[in-house]
Amino acid sequence: MPDGEGWPSTTDNPAVRRLSDWPAEPLRNLADEYETPLYVADLDRVKANASRLRSAFPDADLSYAVKANTTRPVLETLADRGVGAECAAAGEVKRSLEAGFPASRVRYTAVNPPARDLDYVCGLDAADDMVLTVGAMDTLNRVAQRGFRGRLCVRVNPGVGAGHHAKVSTGGEPKFGVPYDRTAAVVEQALEHGFEVVGLHAHAGSGISGDDLSAHRELVRRMGGLAGDVEESLDFVAVGGGFGVPYHEDEPPLDLDTVAEATREAYREGWLEAVAGDDGEDAPAPPQLAIEPGRYFVADAGVLLTTVNTVKPTPETTVVGIDAGMTTLVRPAMYDAYHELRSLEPDTPRRDAVACDISGPVCETADVFARDRPLPDPSRGDLLAIGNAGAYGYEMASNYNSRPRPAVVALEHGEPRLAARRERLDELTRLESEAEDS
Ligand SMILES: Cc1ncc(COP(=O)(O)O)c(C=O)c1O
Repeated sequence: MPDGEGWPSTTDNPAVRRLSDWPAEPLRNLADEYETPLYVADLDRVKANASRLRSAFPDADLSYAVKANTTRPVLETLADRGVGAECAAAGEVKRSLEAGFPASRVRYTAVNPPARDLDYVCGLDAADDMVLTVGAMDTLNRVAQRGFRGRLCVRVNPGVGAGHHAKVSTGGEPKFGVPYDRTAAVVEQALEHGFEVVGLHAHAGSGISGDDLSAHRELVRRMGGLAGDVEESLDFVAVGGGFGVPYHEDEPPLDLDTVAEATREAYREGWLEAVAGDDGEDAPAPPQLAIEPGRYFVADAGVLLTTVNTVKPTPETTVVGIDAGMTTLVRPAMYDAYHELRSLEPDTPRRDAVACDISGPVCETADVFARDRPLPDPSRGDLLAIGNAGAYGYEMASNYNSRPRPAVVALEHGEPRLAARRERLDELTRLESEAEDS
C-alpha cells in the first residue's frame, strides 16, 4: 500500500514513472488547493531515482547537477542521501550549501564565470573544502588572483558531443573546457600556482540514450586515457551527466546497468591504454569515476498542472489555451522538446479525442506546447498535467511578458507542502520600486 493514499508506492522502484502512473484525483485536489499553474515534485520519486543510480554505480562518486531543479526540498532530499552537488553558478553554490550539502561535496564548475561569481565562491569560509573546476587557463589565473586555495579540477573539452538537441550538446563546443591536448599544460600551470589538482571533468551533453552509447563510451575512454597521461595523481575523473529519460510514453527507459557497465569498461580501457599498454599487467588503479546527472534524478518526479483557459476551433485545428506558457516551462519553445500531456478530468473516457494545438498565454509564436496532439474533447476549466516536468521546468521559469512564476508543491509520502509560493503581480516591480526608493 502506498504511504500516501492514492500516490504511487514508495517501495516499488520502476525504471520510469510515466505521466499515466500519476493518480488523477490527488493531483486534482492539489490543483484545487494551490491553483494552477502548479509544479508538483514527488520527493519519494527523487529518492528512488537516487537509489537506482547508486545501485548501478556503486563505486562511483555520485553528484547531482543542481541546475536541473534547485528547489529547497529537492536539494535537501539529495543532500540527505550523501549525493554531492555539481554547481554551475555562485547562486547554485549558495543554495546547495544552505540546503545542507557539506562543502566537501560541492563542486563549482565555472563556465566563463562572471567576476561576482568568483568573488563569492573564492571568498567563502568553506571554499578550501570545495572543488572548483576551471575550463580555461584564464579562469585558472583569475581563481589564483583571488587567493583560492581549495581543490582544483580541470574541465576538458573531450571533442565528443551528445544530446537530444544541438543546444544541449556541450562536449564538442569550444565554450566548454580546455582543449583535450592542452589539458596537461593547464594541470602543470595549476601545480605551479600551488593548487592541489584533484580531478578532471568533462560533460558530453544531455540525453544519453540506450540506443547508442558510442559517444558516451568515447568520451569516457578519452577521459580515462587523459587521467593516465596526466602526471599528477588524481582523486576523481568526472564524466558528466546526460542520462536520458523517456519523454514519450512508449519510449523505453534507459537501462542504467548497461550504461554503468559501458562507462566502467570504457574508463578502464582508456586508463589501461595510457598507463600499461593493452594487457593491463601491474597497472595502478585509476582515480575514482564520478558522475553528475541532473535530469535523471528529478525529471519523472515532477508534473506541471495547468488549466484550460480558452478553447478555440479554427479551420486548421482546435487551439487549447492553457494557463502555463513558455515562461512556466520553456523546454518545448527552446528545444522543441516533447512532453506528454494528459487530461485529469474524471469523465475523459466518455469524451472523443480531438487533435489540438496546446498553447500558452505568452505573446510569442513559440509559446506552443504541442501541435496536433489528441486530447479528450477539451473544455474551459479542464485540468491538464504535463509530464516529466521535474527537470529544467521551474528552474527555467521566467517573468517574460510580466508573468508571475508558478507555485511549487513538494510531496513526501503523499503529504504536500508548499516549496515555492506563487509569485504575485505586485512583486514584479519590486526591484524597480527599490531602485526608485534608493
Ligand atoms: C557540466 C554539466 N554536468 C551535468 C549536467 C547535467 O545534465 P543532465 O541534466 O542532462 O544529466 C549538465 C547539464 O547541462 C552540465 O552542464
